[in-house]
Amino acid sequence: MAKTKSSYFCQSCGYESPKWLGKCPSCGQWNTFVEEVVEKPNAAVPDWKSSTGGSTSLQRANKAVQVSNITFSDEHRILTPDKELNRVLGGGIVAGSLTLIGGEPGIGKSTLMLQLALSMPAAKILYVSGEESDRQIKMRAERIAAPQPPKGEAESSSGTGCFILTETSTQNIFKQIEQLQPDLVIVDSIQTLYSAHIESTPGSVSQVRECTAELLRFAKESSTPVFLIGHITKDGMIAGPKILEHMVDTVLQFEGDRHHVYRILRAIKNRFGSASELGIYEMLGAGLREVSNPSEILLSQRDESLSGITISATLEGMRPMLIETQALVSTSAYGTPQRSATGFDTRRMNMLLAVLEKRCGFRLGNQDVFLNITGGIRVEDPAIDLGLAAAIISSHEDIPIPSKTCFAGELGLSGEIRAVNRIEQRIAEAQKLGFEQIFISRYNLPSGKKDNKQLDLSHYDIEIKAVSRIEEVFTLLFG
Ligand code: TYD
Ligand code: MG
Repeated sequence: MAKTKSSYFCQSCGYESPKWLGKCPSCGQWNTFVEEVVEKPNAAVPDWKSSTGGSTSLQRANKAVQVSNITFSDEHRILTPDKELNRVLGGGIVAGSLTLIGGEPGIGKSTLMLQLALSMPAAKILYVSGEESDRQIKMRAERIAAPQPPKGEAESSSGTGCFILTETSTQNIFKQIEQLQPDLVIVDSIQTLYSAHIESTPGSVSQVRECTAELLRFAKESSTPVFLIGHITKDGMIAGPKILEHMVDTVLQFEGDRHHVYRILRAIKNRFGSASELGIYEMLGAGLREVSNPSEILLSQRDESLSGITISATLEGMRPMLIETQALVSTSAYGTPQRSATGFDTRRMNMLLAVLEKRCGFRLGNQDVFLNITGGIRVEDPAIDLGLAAAIISSHEDIPIPSKTCFAGELGLSGEIRAVNRIEQRIAEAQKLGFEQIFISRYNLPSGKKDNKQLDLSHYDIEIKAVSRIEEVFTLLFG
């Protein structure tokens, strides 16, 4: 019987200490140490290929190789039928990669992964669940209207498709993996797994870390991609030590407002692609549906122009999106005016209001101001400033802005309209969606000397209004 040993772990960064500490010397957080029972790796317990198991597998020493001598076969990527997922991953699933998907409970992580597993009947996919029984998963699979392989024997005889395993011990999972030889493994969720090497309870820092390390070794040695679903804590961090995020290749966040149907899959870290990509889904009664043209859903259907509503041409990752922004400005009934923004930073809203007051002379100090970005999404792109400023004034003056007009520009503190990146893409998207006019910054236009990287206006049908100051915008709009 091995002697049990306990250690203290920082719940925030995973730092290990033999005694309790008030402040973590590694990450500086207070009161994060929790005692966990740890047992040293025991050679008798089977592991993923026991020859390399445990953390003492340093026998094989690698030699330094000149970078030009490293042979590189084109990174093998599996293209899934889910185009949004492919985009967020940087062009498909990379062989041997470990991907972590975090998100609030009930947002649809299990649905997304099960849908992925069901949508590739030609591949052998193992869906390991420690959270639900196989019948529950089957019920969910019935709801999801993914293209499924023919029912019954065809599925099992061909030996491909989606396999469900309800198991939480990593050693048993690896046994099943060795038998099945799947092309892709999905684990729902990492917090429910436990490894027999470690004594502490599932979900504790040391268990999560050990299970992830075992799955990482498996992924790298067998070149099988692995997806891990991870819980997040109250403040939106992925539960478990921060090193979990360092260990995996890709961290995706599945987010959205539970009261809205739209869900956003965001890459937070990606070793194989851009970390600013975004996938948009719609949660329907029959699973998640990809939204390939987000602008159309984010623009609410209306015919007449209303005051306080503008459209902004924003960019999320590499993808242009037209988003409706709404403002309501009304005289405050109480002493202190209310300021509230949904989907937009309140401090930035206060800055916009100050600029409009100081530079354009609008008296907004005694007004309640409410801002809303429709669709329940959050925008951080500064190009939305100009549209919001126009919406605020449109509501304040009660003059509607023509519905075929959109905006893309950042507002500076002195009231200047600053240039924004990728203006061509924004203009092209606005034109594609039938807009007739777009306000952009003059600094996005070619300057006196011919600069080849500057914008060429000649091939756009949409009317481009280049402005350099916020006052000009209002003169053009409201006369
Ligand atoms: P789930 O995938 O269980 O969330 P997570 O694994 O992130 O906790 O999603 C659960 C929610 O999704 C639940 O509230 C019901 C809803 N849902 C649908 O609207 N349609 C569906 O087809 C499915 C399967 C779930
Ligand atoms: Mg789940």
